[in-house]
Amino acid sequence: MKNTTLLITSLLILFMTQAASASEPEAVFKFYCAQCHGLSGAGDGPNVTADFATDPRNFTKTAEMEKLSDADIKNVILDGGPALSKSALMPPWSKTLTGEEVDGLVQVLRGFCNCTGKP
Ligand code: HEC
Repeated sequence: MKNTTLLITSLLILFMTQAASASEPEAVFKFYCAQCHGLSGAGDGPNVTADFATDPRNFTKTAEMEKLSDADIKNVILDGGPALSKSALMPPWSKTLTGEEVDGLVQVLRGFCNCTGKP
């Protein structure tokens, strides 16, 4: 009996830590963005086939990413490509992600481009 309680407790802790790590910025990126933008942010995810009308942004291109402010990036993530007159192939995420998760993603992208963007 005591062992069962211990087992259940440890399983609970395992699930709780997994749920917590699921909202880590890198995990959010892998789950929601990498299929188009690629695991390393180079815009080469498995979703991007030859007939993909617009290439997803390559986040490792520092010069391009430098033109975007953190607020620009946040708006595009929340409202999708058309928010910045970009392709609607970039989906809106405001119904899926929390503000905190989006802030985390902005930092993940800044890590890929190794840039801070315009103020
Ligand atoms: C279904 C494919 C797809 C997914 C999934 C996707 N994107 Fe995109 N994303 C695109 C495409 C395509 C563009 C390029 C739009 C353009 O240049 O017109 C883009 C562009 C962007 C841009 C650049 C906008 C600009 O001004 O150049 C950012 C930032 C971005 N995506 C972030 C994300 C983040 C963060 C996620 C995950 C939450 C994500 N994207 C998921 C397809 C996708």
